[in-house]
Amino acid sequence: MNREGLINKIKKERTLVLIKPDGVERGLVGEIISRFERAGLRIVGLGIVRASKKLMDKHYPKTKAWVENLGNNMLKTAEELKIKIDLKRDYKVNNTYELGLKIREWLINYMCSGPIIKIALEGPHAVQTVRKLVGKTIPSMAEPGTIRGDFSIDSPILANLENRPVKNLIHASGNQQEAEYELKLWFKKDELID
Ligand code: PPS
Repeated sequence: MNREGLINKIKKERTLVLIKPDGVERGLVGEIISRFERAGLRIVGLGIVRASKKLMDKHYPKTKAWVENLGNNMLKTAEELKIKIDLKRDYKVNNTYELGLKIREWLINYMCSGPIIKIALEGPHAVQTVRKLVGKTIPSMAEPGTIRGDFSIDSPILANLENRPVKNLIHASGNQQEAEYELKLWFKKDELID
Protein backbone atom coordinates (compact mmCIF):
# COMPACT_ATOMS: atom_id res chain seq x y z
CA MET A 1 0.00 0.00 0.00
CA ASN A 2 1.37 3.46 -0.88
CA ARG A 3 1.47 6.41 1.52
CA GLU A 4 -1.82 7.90 0.27
CA GLY A 5 -3.51 4.51 0.66
CA LEU A 6 -2.25 4.16 4.21
CA ILE A 7 -3.46 7.68 5.15
CA ASN A 8 -6.87 6.89 3.66
CA LYS A 9 -7.07 3.53 5.44
CA ILE A 10 -6.34 5.09 8.83
CA LYS A 11 -8.73 8.02 8.30
CA LYS A 12 -11.54 5.79 7.13
CA GLU A 13 -11.52 3.03 9.74
CA ARG A 14 -15.11 2.11 10.56
CA THR A 15 -16.86 0.39 13.43
CA LEU A 16 -20.35 -0.66 14.47
CA VAL A 17 -22.17 0.49 17.58
CA LEU A 18 -25.55 -0.84 18.65
CA ILE A 19 -27.51 0.97 21.35
CA LYS A 20 -29.25 -1.95 23.03
CA PRO A 21 -32.95 -1.96 24.07
CA ASP A 22 -32.06 -0.76 27.61
CA GLY A 23 -30.33 2.34 26.19
CA VAL A 24 -33.28 3.16 23.95
CA GLU A 25 -35.84 2.55 26.69
CA ARG A 26 -33.97 4.82 29.09
CA GLY A 27 -33.87 7.69 26.58
CA LEU A 28 -30.08 7.73 26.33
CA VAL A 29 -29.80 7.70 22.54
CA GLY A 30 -28.99 11.42 22.15
CA GLU A 31 -26.50 11.40 25.03
CA ILE A 32 -24.69 8.34 23.69
CA ILE A 33 -24.50 9.60 20.10
CA SER A 34 -23.26 13.01 21.28
CA ARG A 35 -20.36 11.36 23.13
CA PHE A 36 -19.12 9.79 19.90
CA GLU A 37 -19.62 13.01 17.95
CA ARG A 38 -17.84 15.07 20.61
CA ALA A 39 -14.82 12.78 20.31
CA GLY A 40 -14.70 13.59 16.60
CA LEU A 41 -16.03 10.35 15.15
CA ARG A 42 -18.14 10.76 12.01
CA ILE A 43 -21.54 9.10 11.68
CA VAL A 44 -21.60 7.33 8.30
CA GLY A 45 -24.71 5.21 8.92
CA LEU A 46 -27.63 5.40 11.33
CA GLY A 47 -30.94 3.63 11.82
CA ILE A 48 -33.50 2.24 14.22
CA VAL A 49 -34.29 -1.45 13.88
CA ARG A 50 -36.10 -4.31 15.52
CA ALA A 51 -33.66 -7.16 15.19
CA SER A 52 -34.84 -10.63 14.23
CA LYS A 53 -33.55 -13.75 15.97
CA LYS A 54 -31.94 -14.74 12.68
CA LEU A 55 -29.97 -11.48 12.51
CA MET A 56 -28.86 -11.75 16.14
CA ASP A 57 -27.86 -15.38 15.63
CA LYS A 58 -25.54 -14.22 12.84
CA HIS A 59 -24.28 -11.31 14.95
CA TYR A 60 -23.03 -13.28 17.98
CA PRO A 61 -20.39 -15.90 17.11
CA LYS A 62 -21.24 -19.56 17.64
CA THR A 63 -17.73 -21.02 17.87
CA LYS A 64 -16.95 -23.21 20.87
CA ALA A 65 -14.13 -20.85 21.85
CA TRP A 66 -16.36 -17.73 21.89
CA VAL A 67 -19.19 -19.43 23.76
CA GLU A 68 -16.83 -20.98 26.30
CA ASN A 69 -15.11 -17.63 26.79
CA LEU A 70 -18.45 -16.04 27.64
CA GLY A 71 -18.97 -18.60 30.43
CA ASN A 72 -15.35 -18.35 31.62
CA ASN A 73 -15.52 -14.55 31.80
CA MET A 74 -18.55 -14.83 34.02
CA LEU A 75 -16.66 -17.07 36.43
CA LYS A 76 -13.68 -14.69 36.34
CA THR A 77 -15.94 -11.75 37.21
CA ALA A 78 -17.42 -13.73 40.12
CA GLU A 79 -13.90 -14.46 41.36
CA GLU A 80 -12.89 -10.80 41.09
CA LEU A 81 -16.00 -9.79 43.03
CA LYS A 82 -15.36 -12.58 45.55
CA ILE A 83 -18.75 -14.18 44.93
CA LYS A 84 -18.74 -17.98 45.20
CA ILE A 85 -20.87 -19.60 42.55
CA ASP A 86 -21.69 -23.18 41.81
CA LEU A 87 -22.50 -23.77 38.16
CA LYS A 88 -24.84 -26.70 38.83
CA ARG A 89 -26.69 -25.25 41.82
CA ASP A 90 -26.92 -21.62 40.69
CA TYR A 91 -27.16 -21.81 36.92
CA LYS A 92 -28.25 -25.42 36.29
CA VAL A 93 -25.35 -26.09 33.90
CA ASN A 94 -22.47 -28.59 33.93
CA ASN A 95 -19.66 -26.46 32.52
CA THR A 96 -18.69 -23.01 31.22
CA TYR A 97 -19.59 -23.94 27.63
CA GLU A 98 -23.17 -24.69 28.66
CA LEU A 99 -23.27 -21.46 30.64
CA GLY A 100 -21.96 -19.56 27.60
CA LEU A 101 -24.70 -21.10 25.45
CA LYS A 102 -27.35 -19.93 27.92
CA ILE A 103 -25.89 -16.43 28.07
CA ARG A 104 -25.79 -16.28 24.26
CA GLU A 105 -29.46 -17.24 24.07
CA TRP A 106 -30.43 -14.63 26.70
CA LEU A 107 -28.45 -12.04 24.77
CA ILE A 108 -30.22 -12.87 21.52
CA ASN A 109 -33.67 -12.77 23.14
CA TYR A 110 -32.86 -9.51 24.85
CA MET A 111 -31.60 -7.83 21.70
CA CYS A 112 -34.88 -8.80 19.99
CA SER A 113 -37.04 -7.48 22.83
CA GLY A 114 -37.14 -3.84 21.75
CA PRO A 115 -35.80 -1.36 19.23
CA ILE A 116 -32.05 -1.01 18.68
CA ILE A 117 -30.14 1.95 17.24
CA LYS A 118 -27.45 0.93 14.75
CA ILE A 119 -24.62 3.37 14.14
CA ALA A 120 -21.65 3.15 11.77
CA LEU A 121 -18.83 5.40 12.90
CA GLU A 122 -15.69 6.45 11.06
CA GLY A 123 -12.38 7.97 12.10
CA PRO A 124 -8.75 7.14 12.89
CA HIS A 125 -8.62 4.00 15.06
CA ALA A 126 -12.43 4.11 15.28
CA VAL A 127 -12.70 0.59 16.78
CA GLN A 128 -10.32 1.30 19.65
CA THR A 129 -11.62 4.83 20.24
CA VAL A 130 -15.23 3.67 20.48
CA ARG A 131 -14.31 0.83 22.89
CA LYS A 132 -12.49 3.37 25.07
CA LEU A 133 -15.50 5.72 25.13
CA VAL A 134 -17.90 2.84 25.84
CA GLY A 135 -15.89 1.39 28.75
CA LYS A 136 -15.54 -2.12 30.15
CA THR A 137 -18.22 -4.76 29.56
CA ILE A 138 -19.24 -5.14 33.21
CA PRO A 139 -20.89 -1.91 34.42
CA SER A 140 -19.33 -1.93 37.91
CA MET A 141 -15.89 -2.21 36.32
CA ALA A 142 -16.41 0.49 33.68
CA GLU A 143 -14.56 3.67 34.60
CA PRO A 144 -16.41 6.91 35.35
CA GLY A 145 -16.38 9.10 32.26
CA THR A 146 -17.12 6.17 29.96
CA ILE A 147 -20.67 5.64 28.71
CA ARG A 148 -21.15 2.40 30.67
CA GLY A 149 -19.38 3.84 33.71
CA ASP A 150 -21.64 6.88 33.79
CA PHE A 151 -25.00 5.36 32.85
CA SER A 152 -25.16 1.66 33.74
CA ILE A 153 -25.38 -0.39 36.89
CA ASP A 154 -25.88 -4.13 36.67
CA SER A 155 -24.19 -7.36 37.69
CA PRO A 156 -23.60 -10.27 35.30
CA ILE A 157 -23.90 -12.66 38.23
CA LEU A 158 -27.27 -11.26 39.26
CA ALA A 159 -28.39 -10.96 35.66
CA ASN A 160 -27.63 -14.60 34.92
CA LEU A 161 -29.36 -15.73 38.14
CA GLU A 162 -32.39 -13.89 36.77
CA ASN A 163 -32.02 -15.63 33.40
CA ARG A 164 -31.13 -12.46 31.49
CA PRO A 165 -28.02 -10.85 30.04
CA VAL A 166 -26.16 -8.03 31.70
CA LYS A 167 -27.63 -4.64 30.75
CA ASN A 168 -24.69 -2.58 29.57
CA LEU A 169 -26.37 -0.25 27.03
CA ILE A 170 -24.09 -0.74 24.06
CA HIS A 171 -22.48 -3.23 21.75
CA ALA A 172 -19.28 -2.10 20.03
CA SER A 173 -17.21 -4.14 17.56
CA GLY A 174 -14.21 -5.75 19.27
CA ASN A 175 -11.67 -5.46 16.45
CA GLN A 176 -11.38 -4.41 12.80
CA GLN A 177 -12.24 -7.85 11.44
CA GLU A 178 -15.35 -8.01 13.63
CA ALA A 179 -16.28 -4.47 12.59
CA GLU A 180 -16.07 -5.34 8.89
CA TYR A 181 -18.28 -8.40 9.36
CA GLU A 182 -20.80 -6.60 11.57
CA LEU A 183 -21.10 -3.51 9.34
CA LYS A 184 -21.91 -5.75 6.38
CA LEU A 185 -24.48 -7.59 8.49
CA TRP A 186 -26.28 -4.47 9.75
CA PHE A 187 -26.01 -2.05 6.80
CA LYS A 188 -26.62 -2.41 3.09
CA LYS A 189 -23.86 -0.84 1.01
CA ASP A 190 -26.03 2.11 -0.06
CA GLU A 191 -27.02 2.87 3.56
CA LEU A 192 -23.44 3.93 4.34
CA ILE A 193 -22.27 7.41 3.34
CA ASP A 194 -18.85 7.77 1.73
S1 PPS B 1 -17.27 -7.49 24.69
O1 PPS B 1 -17.74 -6.19 25.24
O2 PPS B 1 -17.93 -7.83 23.44
O3 PPS B 1 -15.80 -7.54 24.60
O4 PPS B 1 -17.67 -8.51 25.78
P1 PPS B 1 -17.45 -10.07 25.91
O5 PPS B 1 -16.92 -10.32 27.25
O6 PPS B 1 -16.70 -10.62 24.73
O7 PPS B 1 -18.94 -10.57 25.86
C1 PPS B 1 -19.61 -10.81 24.66
C2 PPS B 1 -21.05 -10.38 24.80
O8 PPS B 1 -21.66 -10.99 25.91
C3 PPS B 1 -22.16 -10.03 26.83
N1 PPS B 1 -21.90 -10.59 28.16
C4 PPS B 1 -22.83 -11.11 28.95
N2 PPS B 1 -24.15 -11.18 28.84
C5 PPS B 1 -24.82 -11.78 29.81
N3 PPS B 1 -24.29 -12.30 30.92
C6 PPS B 1 -22.97 -12.25 31.09
N4 PPS B 1 -22.45 -12.80 32.17
C7 PPS B 1 -22.18 -11.64 30.10
N5 PPS B 1 -20.87 -11.40 29.92
C8 PPS B 1 -20.72 -10.78 28.74
C9 PPS B 1 -21.38 -8.77 26.54
O9 PPS B 1 -22.11 -7.62 26.88
C10 PPS B 1 -21.18 -8.90 25.06
O10 PPS B 1 -22.33 -8.51 24.35
P2 PPS B 1 -22.28 -7.22 23.47
O11 PPS B 1 -23.59 -7.16 22.79
O12 PPS B 1 -21.12 -7.35 22.56
O13 PPS B 1 -22.11 -6.11 24.49
